[in-house]
Amino acid sequence: MPNQALNILPRPPLAGEFVPADYFRTLGRGEICRDGRPLEVDLGCGDGSFLMEMARHHPERDFLGVERLLGRVCKVCRKATRQQLENARVLRLESRYVVEWLLPEGAVSRVHLLCPDPWPKVRHHRRRLVQVEFLEAVSRVLMPGGEFLFMTDHEEYFQWAEEKVAAFGGLERLEWIEAAFFYPKTDFQQFWESEGKTMWRLRCRKPGVAEPCAQSGRIPETR
Ligand SMILES: C[S@@+](CC[C@H](N)C(=O)[O-])C[C@H]1O[C@@H](n2cnc3c(N)ncnc32)[C@H](O)[C@@H]1O
Repeated sequence: MPNQALNILPRPPLAGEFVPADYFRTLGRGEICRDGRPLEVDLGCGDGSFLMEMARHHPERDFLGVERLLGRVCKVCRKATRQQLENARVLRLESRYVVEWLLPEGAVSRVHLLCPDPWPKVRHHRRRLVQVEFLEAVSRVLMPGGEFLFMTDHEEYFQWAEEKVAAFGGLERLEWIEAAFFYPKTDFQQFWESEGKTMWRLRCRKPGVAEPCAQSGRIPETR
């Protein structure tokens, strides 16, 4: 992932930060995908523990964390730099905008949305990230055979997400058995589990078969 240090931020870019050359057009694949390496996107990456562990475990893949809070972006960038994880980058931007407008079509092998804000009040449900339009955009950026993984401690948001996936109809449901493949716990997951809460998991796949080791990236084995 090239990190163009153009002077378009009101501050110097951080080491490990991904700064698009232009925030107002869709990225070209060459701007975000490196040499046919699979690209995984973690929306709302928070303090980045999941992102760091995934990047360490899968040096053959690239990871992009998306986070709107600058303090958290700085923290994740510091961790990636300290751990010399060149395959992990962070983009400070709003997740929906990134998926709907910035990421190129068919470029992403997995989109992770883990412990997102559940917006429990009915009048705030429209603020939830998982909506039919969002799923359409997720499906567009995924390569054929690519996956969307959603996890929450909030049962009602989980049911909402199931309903939206069914209403969209463009993603196939897959089984997600815990520990069936490498999937480190996120910071919020650890917190909720320490409080005795259940985590609800939804895993979906974009239909189609990825070209083996295509220029755009190779679908990773999920282990
Ligand atoms: C509840 S935390 C979960 C963090 C991490 N995924 C985890 O499981 O530990 C949600 C994170 O998403 C970020 N966030 C919430 N809405 C966002 C949005 N629309 N775009 C980008 N980041 C967002 C928040 O700032 C926060 O860091």
